[in-house]
Amino acid sequence: MTIALLGLGEMGSALAAALLAAGHPLTVWNRSSGKTEPLVAAGARPAQSPEAAVRAAELVLVNVQDGAVAEKLLRAAGPALAGRTVVNLTDGPSEQAGVAADLVTGLGADYLHGQIMTIAPAIGSPDAVIFFGGPRQVFDRYEPVLRSLGGRATHVSTDPAVPLLYGMAFHDIMWGLLNGFLHAAALLRDAGIPIGRYTEQADPSLAALPSLFGLFAGEIDRAEFATPFGALKHHLPSIDDVIAESEARGIDIALPTYTRRLVADALVAGHGDDSYSRLVEHFGRRPGRA
Ligand SMILES: NC(=O)c1ccc[n+]([C@@H]2O[C@H](COP(=O)([O-])OP(=O)(O)OC[C@H]3O[C@@H](n4cnc5c(N)ncnc54)[C@H](OP(=O)(O)O)[C@@H]3O)[C@@H](O)[C@H]2O)c1
Repeated sequence: MTIALLGLGEMGSALAAALLAAGHPLTVWNRSSGKTEPLVAAGARPAQSPEAAVRAAELVLVNVQDGAVAEKLLRAAGPALAGRTVVNLTDGPSEQAGVAADLVTGLGADYLHGQIMTIAPAIGSPDAVIFFGGPRQVFDRYEPVLRSLGGRATHVSTDPAVPLLYGMAFHDIMWGLLNGFLHAAALLRDAGIPIGRYTEQADPSLAALPSLFGLFAGEIDRAEFATPFGALKHHLPSIDDVIAESEARGIDIALPTYTRRLVADALVAGHGDDSYSRLVEHFGRRPGRA
């Protein structure tokens, strides 16, 4: 199967290398032509324009800086896209997947959007996760190629925007967890406790944290927040301890103070006996918000 790849940045170059390693005939295009050289040396064919690259292939992969750039390249390829399949692996707000899908399908091509969940050196490995959205039969047709980019390539929705939302959800969760971890690390370090010793000795309780995701997911999906244990009212004293300890040590209290406000507001609203997952309502859409 002939493949074209538009975009040879850090990630695009890794995608190209994986496609060549899997034995696919590959045509590459990049704005700065110098980046094509190592791939041409490895067997890829260079194209002079996005349109020329597209004309050389059945399957067109796009991996560039952002959705606006991807859209510009797809418009540049224009009618040449007809009858082909575009797999856009560019990150961005979810609406950009819809814009690109409308553009591509309007030109008579199929469209999938992919969200790469790994760093460039892991591309091509059996554990690399890539989420795909778009017509299931299009994913099925190209699944072997997509699996050569990430062994755990998974179709998650017929809506091309969903992979981007999956990617955002991961980052959203990651930053929340990491900020909590780093605040705790600052507190422990101030007390002279090696963080590595803590993570080793506290491993059983830390390892239990992800099990809350599944528990909370069920509560949120059912909108049932009653809980026999760990109710919101029990969290407040622990948060106050963290704030007091941090304050006494001169550690930043913004993060636990923010958490305290969420919990205190929920208690005032009468949710003290509910699960911590009740706080999803704080983050949810409010009247007046877009
Ligand atoms: N790197 C990662 O580990 C990673 C992981 C997951 C997802 N991603 C996603 O993959 C995409 C590419 O990331 P990257 O790390 O490869 O970025 P990068 O190294 O900065 O490469 C950006 C690419 O976009 C091209 N580009 C930028 N502006 C352009 C324009 N106006 N017209 C045409 N081409 C333009 C660049 O061309 P030039 O070479 O000419 O500048 C280059 O090919 C992003 O959406 C990123 O979020 C990356």
